[in-house]
Amino acid sequence: MLLHDIIENCGVVPVVVLEDANKAVPLAKALLAGGIKTCEVTFRTAAAEEAIRQIALNVPDMIVGAGTVITKEQLKSAVDAGAKFIVSPGSDIEVVRYAKELGVYMLPGAVTPTEIMQLMKEDIKVVKFFPAENYGGLKTIKAISQPFPNIRFVPTGGVSLSNLSTYLEFGKIAAVGGSWLCTKDLINEEKWDEITRLSKEAMEIFRKVRN
Ligand code: 3PG
Repeated sequence: MLLHDIIENCGVVPVVVLEDANKAVPLAKALLAGGIKTCEVTFRTAAAEEAIRQIALNVPDMIVGAGTVITKEQLKSAVDAGAKFIVSPGSDIEVVRYAKELGVYMLPGAVTPTEIMQLMKEDIKVVKFFPAENYGGLKTIKAISQPFPNIRFVPTGGVSLSNLSTYLEFGKIAAVGGSWLCTKDLINEEKWDEITRLSKEAMEIFRKVRN
C-alpha cells in the first residue's frame, strides 16, 4: 500500500484520543460507516497501543495509524500493535529513519523551510503541518509551497468543517487531519451515530472538492 492510498485517498484523517481501548472498535466502525477509511490513534493516552491493536484485528477495512509518535520506542510499539502508518507532530530524523527501517510509512511534522529541507534528504514528500491554524494556515502553506513544489501537506490543528473545503481546494494539500469528527466528548458519550454523521459530512465535502 502506498502512502498515497493511506493518506491522500482518505482526504480526512481523524485524530483520535482514546482513554478506553474498548471504545476503539465501535469508533472505527462509526468512522468507516461515514466513509472515513483511515484514522490516527494518538499516543497521548495509555490506551493507544491496545486501541490500535483492537482496530487492526477487528476492523480490517480501517487503515489505522499511530499519531503523536515522538520516540523510537513508541514507533516500535505502534508497529507491533498493527499501525499501518506513523504520524509525528515534528521531525526527529532518528525516528523518521527508524520508520523506514521497519518499512512503515511516516508522516513527520514540519512547519519551516529548514525542517522540510531536512526531511527531503530522508525522501519524505508529505509532511504534517501542525498546528496549522496557529502557523498561519493555508496562507503559510501556499508561501512555503513555492520553493518546494514536490512537497505536499497534511494541515492539522484548527481544521474543521468550516475551513475544510478551503484547505482541500489547494492542490498541495494531501489530506487534512482533525479531531472534530470524533472529539473526546463524542467518544466518551459513545455518540457513534453522530460520529458517522460528521464523517459523512466531511467526506461529502472531500468528494465535492476533489472530484
Ligand atoms: C493533532 O494532534 O493533530 C491535533 O491535536 C488535532 O488538532 P484539532 O484538535 O484542532 O483538530
